[in-house]
Amino acid sequence: MTKPSDQKLMIRALRGETLERPPFWLMRQAGRYLPEYRELRKNSKNFLDFCYTPDLAVEVTLQPLRRYHMDAAILFSDILVIPDALGQKVEFLEGEGPVLDPVQSLKDIKKLNSGQIADHLAPVFEILKRLSSEIPEETALIGFAGSPWTIAVYMIEGRGGTDHGRVLEWGESRAEEFQVLIDLLVDATSDYLIRQVESGAEIIQLFDSWAGVLNPEQFHRWSVEPTRRIVERLHERCPGVPVIGFPRNVGPLAADYVSKTGVDGVSLDQDMQLDWIAETLQPICTVQGNLDNKILIAGGQELDRATVNILKALSGGPFIFNLGHGILPETSPDHVGRVAELVRGWPASGDGPNSSDGNN
Ligand code: CP3
Repeated sequence: MTKPSDQKLMIRALRGETLERPPFWLMRQAGRYLPEYRELRKNSKNFLDFCYTPDLAVEVTLQPLRRYHMDAAILFSDILVIPDALGQKVEFLEGEGPVLDPVQSLKDIKKLNSGQIADHLAPVFEILKRLSSEIPEETALIGFAGSPWTIAVYMIEGRGGTDHGRVLEWGESRAEEFQVLIDLLVDATSDYLIRQVESGAEIIQLFDSWAGVLNPEQFHRWSVEPTRRIVERLHERCPGVPVIGFPRNVGPLAADYVSKTGVDGVSLDQDMQLDWIAETLQPICTVQGNLDNKILIAGGQELDRATVNILKALSGGPFIFNLGHGILPETSPDHVGRVAELVRGWPASGDGPNSSDGNN
């Protein structure tokens, strides 16, 4: 069995403690950069089936922990299980990423079926239950979901990486209809996350990967407000379970996001300035981030320098070491090992907090 949550480094950091050695985990720590992941994955044609098979999902969640001893395990799943559970057609195409049958009208929204979510996602709850007894005792278990805005982007655009024309247009010219979809996602996501906690998740992360395409007014309406409602419900129903928000690419609006949503931690991308994070965000919230995933691919001295720079700038306050975005498939597992070594060995002799030059 695992330790009580409140002794784990991740939970202590999220309650606002400054730890001598910050905890770390890496977004997409389980995935295609690991040969043992590719080995298991090659036998499953369908990625969602892979995610819904407890034996496989539990095993790939544990793979990076065996190599690198991260302080957290993140449930192996995907944010798009929510549209899948709502009855939308979701496929993951080799080399293309996710493709969905786009939602195009209020009629399409009304066809979505919230009633089957708990049954459809029963395997996810089973995976979390098994992980809580299988992860090392000092490791914290993270559950997650996409934020309503980011899920709506995939549901309406049908894929990521578009110009977001359709979803932005809908939010502007048919805002009341769009609000129906957002409200449905707030309810579905809150219920889903509460069940994740009941199944063993000790921390929740909300991924808002496409928050950066919104202007400030849209950001408040479609990202901040729905997130605030989810965080409020989680805090009410799951007291003591911290929530980390990841409003990617929003720049200084991250400060507003923190103060208005009530998240316990904020995950930051690689474009955020370290000195600004330390001065503006760390006094109000635990911060997580923000190594550039491209530097992780590069490795060598550049990787050492960037990693130590972040540790110096942010380990003087409540902090979790992570990347600015997920590990890319072409990353060498050795580079991940080097980062793990630097963070776990912190503070190295001669280094210490508050001596950064503030550059990324
Ligand atoms: O280790 C972990 O981080 C846990 C598992 C996890 C996955 N996806 C597995 C996955 C998590 C937390 C996610 C979140 C996710 N999924 C996000 C938010 C974070 C972000 O990256 O911005 C988003 C936007 C998605 C949607 C998604 N899933 C995309 C765009 C893709 C294709 C891109 C890619 O990397 O292939 C996926 C597929 C996916 N999700 C894979 C994995 C391991 C690769 C699929 C494979 O093995 O074939």
